[in-house]
Amino acid sequence: MTHLQNARVILTGASGGLGSHISQQLSIHQCKIGLVGRNKQRLEILSKRLQEQGADVIAIDADITLAEGRDKVFQQMQQHYQGVDILINNAAIMQFAEFV
Ligand SMILES: NC(=O)c1ccc[n+]([C@@H]2O[C@H](COP(=O)([O-])OP(=O)(O)OC[C@H]3O[C@@H](n4cnc5c(N)ncnc54)[C@H](OP(=O)(O)O)[C@@H]3O)[C@@H](O)[C@H]2O)c1
Repeated sequence: MTHLQNARVILTGASGGLGSHISQQLSIHQCKIGLVGRNKQRLEILSKRLQEQGADVIAIDADITLAEGRDKVFQQMQQHYQGVDILINNAAIMQFAEFV
């Protein structure tokens, strides 16, 4: 067991180069991961691969530059994991504003 076990993590940019490596590491630590990106197909390929390794993940297709996209992320996390412990905001976006 690690201190990250069962932590509920939002990972934006999950399907990108760094994101897919971070998701792999989080799954090794047995986190529950909301994988976020806009391209649903890329997310589903990643989530299927992680689930086949025993990871607890959900794919959330959302554009985090949009308020409705960010709302969707939190709604999905609430619905599947009853909340969020950690936000890893890794998507390649430069926008200086509050996340919610
Ligand atoms: N790679 C490096 O060497 C390096 C070095 C220093 C810093 N960084 C930073 O690390 C972060 C990740 O880099 P990377 O190389 O992994 O980038 P990447 O391969 O281009 O991946 C970007 C990820 O962000 C997602 N994304 C982009 N716009 C989005 C939006 N509006 N809403 C939701 N998701 C969005 C993309 O998925 P969709 O297109 O499907 O949305 C993809 O999953 C970036 O912020 C980058 O600036 C990277």
